[in-house]
Amino acid sequence: MFKNPARIHPIIILVLMILASCQSFQQKKPLSAEEQLELITIGNKITEESFKALSGELMGALQEGGVQNAIGYCHLQASPIIDSLSAVYGVVISRVSEKNRNPINKPDDSDLLVIASYREQLAEGRELRPHLEKTGTARVYYSPIVIQNPACLLCHGKPGNTMEQENYDFILAKYPDDLATDYQLGDLRGVWKIILNIKTYSGEP
Ligand code: HEC
Repeated sequence: MFKNPARIHPIIILVLMILASCQSFQQKKPLSAEEQLELITIGNKITEESFKALSGELMGALQEGGVQNAIGYCHLQASPIIDSLSAVYGVVISRVSEKNRNPINKPDDSDLLVIASYREQLAEGRELRPHLEKTGTARVYYSPIVIQNPACLLCHGKPGNTMEQENYDFILAKYPDDLATDYQLGDLRGVWKIILNIKTYSGEP
């Protein structure tokens, strides 16, 4: 059957093609159910604690000295708890939004896809759940930030309406490229984005 060497080549090529497709399948392999559960649990814990720390500091500063006193507190670096969470879990904690106040919170292309999908689900009245992305060796956890507290509108509402013009001018002086206004209760404000370090959980690269 293999007397004619010319006939072997197509078989070898076929085997090589199968092997190559297996390898690329391995690389694109979705996360296992165990890994997903572990990552979602860690991500939920980090975002819940970060949110608690941030809103505690923010509400305290608002009560103590009003909006202009508090504008430095809607910032991840405003809370030592966020620094320690990043160190303990070996993660990068951020918030991103298309309509950002600080340009460092600008989304990248894959963040934009996640935000668009959350926005669509919100419009359809669906429950928004945390989301995971796997890019190369990185694992990225996302969860939605929806405006639920009317106090958020003091600084992210409509200038001259739900947000005082004077406070808006104060914010603009510090953030001249501000896009983070005109929000209403129930709007998607952005997403938490947690880049998980592979060493902090049992997943394989
Ligand atoms: C006292 C004013 C103030 C209040 C109240 C406030 N924020 Fe902010 N917010 C800011 C400022 C200032 C920034 C920019 C922080 C920075 O430099 O990273 C910001 C940034 C953000 C960001 C990051 C994206 C971006 O626009 O740069 C999110 C998300 C956010 N705020 C959500 C909220 C939510 C949700 C609430 C209500 C729980 C809230 N904010 C209440 C002033 C405020």
